[in-house]
Amino acid sequence: MEIRSLVETAELGRGEEAPSLLLAGANKGKIIVQELFKDFDSLRVLDGIHLEVGEGEFLALVGPSGCGKSTLLRMLAGLMKPSGGRVLIDGEEVRGPSPSRNLVFQEHALYPWRTVSQNVALGLEIFRFPPAEIRRRVKELLALVGLEGFDDYYPHQISGGMRQRAALARVLAVDPDVLFLDEPFGALDAMTRLTLQKELLRLWDHSGKTVVLVTHDVEEALYLADRVAIMSAVPGRIREIIRVKDPRPRDRGSASLVSLKRTVLDLLGLEPKFSQTIPAI
Ligand SMILES: Nc1ncnc2c1ncn2[C@@H]1O[C@H](COP(=O)(O)OP(=O)(O)OP(=O)(O)O)[C@@H](O)[C@H]1O
Ligand SMILES: [Mg+2]
Repeated sequence: MEIRSLVETAELGRGEEAPSLLLAGANKGKIIVQELFKDFDSLRVLDGIHLEVGEGEFLALVGPSGCGKSTLLRMLAGLMKPSGGRVLIDGEEVRGPSPSRNLVFQEHALYPWRTVSQNVALGLEIFRFPPAEIRRRVKELLALVGLEGFDDYYPHQISGGMRQRAALARVLAVDPDVLFLDEPFGALDAMTRLTLQKELLRLWDHSGKTVVLVTHDVEEALYLADRVAIMSAVPGRIREIIRVKDPRPRDRGSASLVSLKRTVLDLLGLEPKFSQTIPAI
């Protein structure tokens, strides 16, 4: 799937000037989702999604398992066709994959037969970047995600957190304007998650890139995002969008984040109603 999408992306990108690495202030990546539907046979998975994500904004998407988050992300990235409605990025309808938007899958999907540096280089090779440029970019990207010295390791020889960083480096290598992240830290232990969340913020900050992050971790969403969109159970709709106003770096234990967490859990139907279960004294 990913190789195919990268190959298709290469077709689209051929002849274009090679984008420079992590350009600051690109001022691109505005996403508009209009009346988006998706049916799989008789199952309606997404039911009229309306959403706008601003240039350089960090949006988190939370919702119950199976409500269509990954499906929505695939359609935003142009990897799947909607059954109805449309997605516009910078005013153009998304009709297929493009190097300007790139997806980190729920499964990190590194190729086990390729070393870390060969995995990071994959998109650049497909776009036929010159070998010297590929070497330069891969080196820079590995440093950026803290994987210097692991160039020649294979995925099974590095930790889960390092594999996620390599997957992130691979999508950043082609310098997309929009980054779609599908539970990129889902399989990691709590400490590695916290570290990688900080690193993601560092990478995003000043990059001008628009990020849409799917996560089942409400705290992660509130720690990272400018806004959190909460989806309903299947058929998925956007139930509510909450703006997180706390300045970064955020204190996960601040009164405002704790209160927002309660609101989001409540909207997801996960917050116990203490007032109903504890009898008044
Ligand atoms: N290619 C497909 N063919 C048929 N049904 C699919 C396909 N992809 C997803 N679905 C169905 O669409 C629904 C939503 O799936 P999706 O993977 O988008 O959910 P999700 O919100 O990402 O869930 P999770 O939080 O568990 O990752 C599920 O019922 C799933 O079975
Ligand atoms: Mg999913």
